[in-house]
Amino acid sequence: MKLLVIGGGGREHAIVKKLRENPAVEVIYCLPGNGGIAADAVCVPEIGAKDIAAQAAFAKAHGIDYAVVAPDDPLALGAVDALTAAGVPCFGPDAKAAVIEASKAFSKELMHKYNIPTARYAVFSDPAAACAYLDDHPVPVVVKADGLALGKGVIIAQTRQEAKEAVHAMMEDKVFGASGNRIVIEEFLTGPEVSVLSFTDGKTVVPMVSSMDHKRAGDTGLNTGGMGTVAPNPFYTPEIAKVCMDTIFLPTIRAMAAEGRPFKGCLYFGLMLTADGPKVIEYNCRFGDPETQVVLPLLKSDLLTVMQATTNGTLAQTPVELADGAACCVIAASQGYPAAYEKGFPITMTAESAAHAYVAGARLQEGQLVTSGGRVLGVTAVADTLPEAVKEAYRLMDGVQFENRFFRRDIGAKALAALEGRS
Ligand code: AMP
Ligand code: GLY
Repeated sequence: MKLLVIGGGGREHAIVKKLRENPAVEVIYCLPGNGGIAADAVCVPEIGAKDIAAQAAFAKAHGIDYAVVAPDDPLALGAVDALTAAGVPCFGPDAKAAVIEASKAFSKELMHKYNIPTARYAVFSDPAAACAYLDDHPVPVVVKADGLALGKGVIIAQTRQEAKEAVHAMMEDKVFGASGNRIVIEEFLTGPEVSVLSFTDGKTVVPMVSSMDHKRAGDTGLNTGGMGTVAPNPFYTPEIAKVCMDTIFLPTIRAMAAEGRPFKGCLYFGLMLTADGPKVIEYNCRFGDPETQVVLPLLKSDLLTVMQATTNGTLAQTPVELADGAACCVIAASQGYPAAYEKGFPITMTAESAAHAYVAGARLQEGQLVTSGGRVLGVTAVADTLPEAVKEAYRLMDGVQFENRFFRRDIGAKALAALEGRS
């Protein structure tokens, strides 16, 4: 079989490596891919993740049997619609269903209408009305741009003044472009956060192993795309998982179907376990990055078979087996990320670390892998227990070198403390 993966980060590298485990796979093309993915797939740097028309033309010309659209932008732009129209079956929601991530106003209204637990909220398209509403709102308060904003469109304001500045920045200064035409103002929730990635064919929903992201560059500091992950998330007990299935996962799948937007692909539930029970912080219409780098290594079933079942509507009849162990992914970034950083430094890895690496911001320069982005690569370790996985991931990180390398030393620390507290 000939496969196509759209995207070019660590998540896509993890998807490519997992798909390659199926012996029927002859070749995987990755558009655009990156210098590290090039070791496992045929990358086409000329076709970007948002070049929908070029992707569909490429898929047709190369006789692609199945395509996987991984990032949010092409999904929201209709990459799945375009590939399907070109006769190429693919994994991911169509544009109508991808709106669950692409519009926070849509997702909040969906949850409100179908009684799915989430933070209380209001939606505004007028900055004066938003500021008037803030005058009576307790702080901290959360201000969110409606549309996609590279994961940066959420401001947790400690004061009303700060909240109003966020409103002006999003709605008037348009720091996130059209994504700030509308905003959501919502109640600040507290509790452990859990990411649950699930497979769904629009009727059946099958959660994968739960995970925990580490979003900031340090334990405090700026939000990043994610500096490391562990799975499973120790806060997510079997009892909580059952509550989530009954009050969040199934109701969401049914709600999307009832709205005429059946969701197929990977639906990512970003949850907060509050004193009032689990609540939805956000939906993503795709695999998370770097959650995928710990969740897919713990998938025992063949990824291609499960993906095809989501497309064909046969997920209920398709076994999805998860491994019992644990995984940890530590991301190596360029010093300075998520603000300014230098790039172009050669990357060296031991063979062992390279085998466990998922490459994100790196390109090939005369055959040498060099840094080209903020998040450069992640190393993932799988072990029987979480403490072993964390230790092993840091050992693998010792086998990765480049100038300006920066990584958090505390990935998994909260999860390990939670495990110790329980025993
Ligand atoms: P999002 O981009 O929606 O994932 O939001 C980024 C981060 O902001 C989340 O991972 C949470 O840590 C935090 N956050 C978002 N909404 C809320 C909320 N209502 N209360 C507290 N924290 C929130
Ligand atoms: N790691 C969070 C995300 O992929 O949105």
